[in-house]
Amino acid sequence: MDTRNLLVKSAIAALALATAVTSSYGQKQWNAPHIVTAYCSGCHGIDGNAQLPYIPKLAGLDATYTGKKLMAFTDPPSPPVDELYADAMKAIDGRKDKTNLTRNEQINMEGVAHAAKRELLQEALLWYARQTPVSARHSHGLAIQQGEKLFKVGVPAQKIVPCMTCHGPNAEGQREAPRLAAQNAEYIEMQLAKFRKGDRTHAPEMTMVTRDLDSDQAHAVALYLQSR
Ligand code: HEC
Ligand code: HEC
Repeated sequence: MDTRNLLVKSAIAALALATAVTSSYGQKQWNAPHIVTAYCSGCHGIDGNAQLPYIPKLAGLDATYTGKKLMAFTDPPSPPVDELYADAMKAIDGRKDKTNLTRNEQINMEGVAHAAKRELLQEALLWYARQTPVSARHSHGLAIQQGEKLFKVGVPAQKIVPCMTCHGPNAEGQREAPRLAAQNAEYIEMQLAKFRKGDRTHAPEMTMVTRDLDSDQAHAVALYLQSR
């Protein structure tokens, strides 16, 4: 069994356990580590530093932002949760590569957001907000430099505003704009592509920002952010 398969299996185990947790909620005292282990850590890690590059790190993310994000996952009326799980797991287990993954992953999170009780989710989000994000070290020196420039200065010729204006000078996040420092690069690139296509609807700012951003620029800025 390869690592990815193993992780998917542990996610399934976590989700199965999650059902048990939900049914006994109310009789038992569940603290944050219990909740996170039962529902989330199979994918996001116990300390929020997700190992798989396309799964977001949650460590250090402001709980107001993540709370809003989770509500957005439950936004459109969806089919029954059990169906969502079954579909998502089948799709993940059967996939050969990461093309076409985005919708499945969203389905996954819609399932999680529907199934887990609001109080439990809130506990999990507060837990993750308190964890320390671990940035990646790697050797993409030139791309990281280009990404840093884009983040701090933008591209005036393409009318691309510096990301820093909204996300803060150290990408630590401010107001509505989330923390991006140390986030997985692959996840960032996937989100930038979603914004550009208009697939993330609650973010008009980011749709504007990414309109003229080409894929090399998106790659560079994602590598820079991951290294922060
Ligand atoms: C089966 C794997 C899996 C499990 C279990 C899971 N997640 Fe996720 N989560 C994901 C993926 C994949 C995404 C990215 C979805 C996307 O691309 O839109 C995500 C996204 C998120 C986001 C949005 C992050 C951001 O930066 O915008 C939050 C918040 C989140 N998850 C919280 C949780 C919490 C809390 C739990 C446990 C209650 C949980 N997740 C369980 C896979 C999972
Ligand atoms: C005008 C303000 C503004 C600017 C400039 C801006 N952003 Fe954002 N960004 C936001 C807001 C607000 C959100 C939250 C959207 C949401 O709630 O879904 C966001 C979300 C994101 C996300 C999603 C993070 C996640 O956890 O899912 C990424 C990635 C991102 N921005 C990258 C960038 C990059 C790279 C740049 C520069 C090229 C940039 N942003 C410039 C306001 C901005």
